[in-house]
Amino acid sequence: MSTGSTRSTSSIRSTRPAGAAESAPDTPAAPVLQARDVHRAFGTTQALRGATVTVNRGEILAIMGPSGSGKSTLLHCLAGIYKPDKGEIWFDGTRVDTLGEAKRTELRRDSFGFVFQFGQLVPELTALDNIALPLLLAKMSRKQAYAQAAPWLERLELSERGTHRTGELSGGQAQRVALARAMVHRPRVLFADEPTGSLDTLTGENVMNLLVSTARAEGTTVVLVTHDARVAAYADREVVVRDGRALTTPGSAVA
Ligand SMILES: Nc1ncnc2c1ncn2[C@@H]1O[C@H](COP(=O)(O)OP(=O)(O)OP(=O)(O)O)[C@@H](O)[C@H]1O
Ligand SMILES: [Mg+2]
Repeated sequence: MSTGSTRSTSSIRSTRPAGAAESAPDTPAAPVLQARDVHRAFGTTQALRGATVTVNRGEILAIMGPSGSGKSTLLHCLAGIYKPDKGEIWFDGTRVDTLGEAKRTELRRDSFGFVFQFGQLVPELTALDNIALPLLLAKMSRKQAYAQAAPWLERLELSERGTHRTGELSGGQAQRVALARAMVHRPRVLFADEPTGSLDTLTGENVMNLLVSTARAEGTTVVLVTHDARVAAYADREVVVRDGRALTTPGSAVA
């Protein structure tokens, strides 16, 4: 026991899963990614109507909210996939939403990683091929790409599955391959949209534990979209999206 210790206690919430926030940043919050008053419509549907969110360096931020509230649209705007109709997106001191398509593609390829609900792997390729793919697309040599990809099989408990086509994998295995593929180029920000949405609870916990531990180990900032409070419990902080606007939950830091 630490009775008498001068070490200050951490602010880990008791509901947080074991190990989920052990290395949460304790330095003053440093914004790395921001949406400022973002509006985005699809036809007559106003998906975002003034969403403002700040993501701090190294944190795991959960974006929560009911179905249709605008969570995925916000993630796509933060990641430079969608251009907002109004408002601004900033990443690391650069305004992203005014960049051209080629620059935004380059930014996503070099600095961001993505995991979606359904892995979106190439089913005909093996697990290892899928993990190496982003490196090959970034023009890395085959030898170097496979050397960098291979350790991720073990890190994500896929050692037995490296040569299997991903079309033959279970849902949990496929999501772990998707996570490895998203992390293999060491992105600054990992965007995960319902990464456990198609998995049972136990398999989802395994994927979340691996997602959190690899992000912590790599110092990766995570933007995690979920409507599941058990998944959001892995995050350092939550914002709730309702009717296209982002709200900070009581007790959490500045949004
Ligand atoms: N590509 C699109 N075309 C047309 N409408 C869209 C498109 N994407 C989102 N919308 C609409 O925008 C609104 C917000 O959608 P969004 O996908 O951001 O919600 P969400 O919070 O992620 O929901 P869910 O939890 O169901 O994934 C919804 O009304 C949705 O129907
Ligand atoms: Mg969604």
